[in-house]
Amino acid sequence: MGIEVVVEGLTKSFGRQNIWRDVSLTLPAGEVSVMLGPSGTGKTVFLKSLIGLLKPEKGRVLIDGVDMVNSPEKDIYETRKLFGLMFQDGALFGSLSLFDNIAFPLREHTRKKESEIRRIVMERIEVVGLLGAEGKLPGEISGGMRKRAGLARALVLDPQIILCDEPDSGLDPVRTAYLSQLLIDLNAQIDATMLIVTHNLDIAATVPDNMGMLFRRELVTFGPREVLLTSDEPVVSQFLGGRREGPIGMSEEKDAATLAAEADRAMPAAPRVIVPQLEPSPGLPPRRAVARRRERVMSMIDTLPPAARSAIRETYARDAAAATVTAPVAGSGA
Ligand SMILES: Nc1ncnc2c1ncn2[C@@H]1O[C@H](COP(=O)(O)OP(=O)(O)OP(=O)(O)O)[C@@H](O)[C@H]1O
Ligand SMILES: [Mg+2]
Repeated sequence: MGIEVVVEGLTKSFGRQNIWRDVSLTLPAGEVSVMLGPSGTGKTVFLKSLIGLLKPEKGRVLIDGVDMVNSPEKDIYETRKLFGLMFQDGALFGSLSLFDNIAFPLREHTRKKESEIRRIVMERIEVVGLLGAEGKLPGEISGGMRKRAGLARALVLDPQIILCDEPDSGLDPVRTAYLSQLLIDLNAQIDATMLIVTHNLDIAATVPDNMGMLFRRELVTFGPREVLLTSDEPVVSQFLGGRREGPIGMSEEKDAATLAAEADRAMPAAPRVIVPQLEPSPGLPPRRAVARRRERVMSMIDTLPPAARSAIRETYARDAAAATVTAPVAGSGA
């Protein structure tokens, strides 16, 4: 089962360039979270800091009692084995077949027999829909297939925490939709804590339980999906609406004069509809995080903005109505 990741007051600079400061959030156990943010805001740096590959100068990342920033290197190395990591660029070895690429972490980090390795690798290859392609080299398959191979490799060590850096980049809309479903199905099957970095608005709207956003060297917000999907925070609504008008500019932040001119022309924002979150494919177990999340969100609901509150109540009322209809089987898997 997934483990909670607690980030406290994390600050990272390279030399004199501060990337972000004082980032605090908790990735709840077994839930799926998404991190948004314009290019260059340090999302990849954030993922690398969670697994201890980069060292922030301040703050802590707590996983099962180990601090991935300050604990002894051998503890960090052990804890890193709990992670499955899917890199932005796939990061496959070009001279190795998909099979050998996916088997790599098992050969590197375990003493499993070759027959056991074959069983695990083929199982993961099937999960990501690459059966038949295991003998191919990365250069012989499409970008989408390479992405899925990267995901299969992230899964071989039975990770309890999965980090995916832009799993959708370079995928067409249909493949992105399949990938979204795959991420939810994975979560249902292994109950891992997941953090996905993406620019894709469909993934953001349909996959995560929680969302956060990095902007201007800060974590602007992190919370239940309903909070961000109904947010009227300008930077959040600009990003999720994919609009040019707002604080995010092409290269840097816009200056005050441009913003003021835009505000004069501003149209009232259309009310946003919250699309339902994806459910696991038929035949899969329900996501175990769902019940935990409901309890967690309901305990904080009085602290949330009104729009988020009503969105959450609506979702749970709709779920309850659906559960009543299917009452005879409800709870059988619980
Ligand atoms: N090892 C490093 N040394 C120095 N600077 C770095 C290093 N890694 C990243 N940076 C800088 O940190 C900033 C954030 O980079 P990062 O790759 O995390 O952005 P990002 O949010 O992932 O962007 P994108 O959406 O384009 O992938 C950039 O200015 C980058 O140049
Ligand atoms: Mg990146």
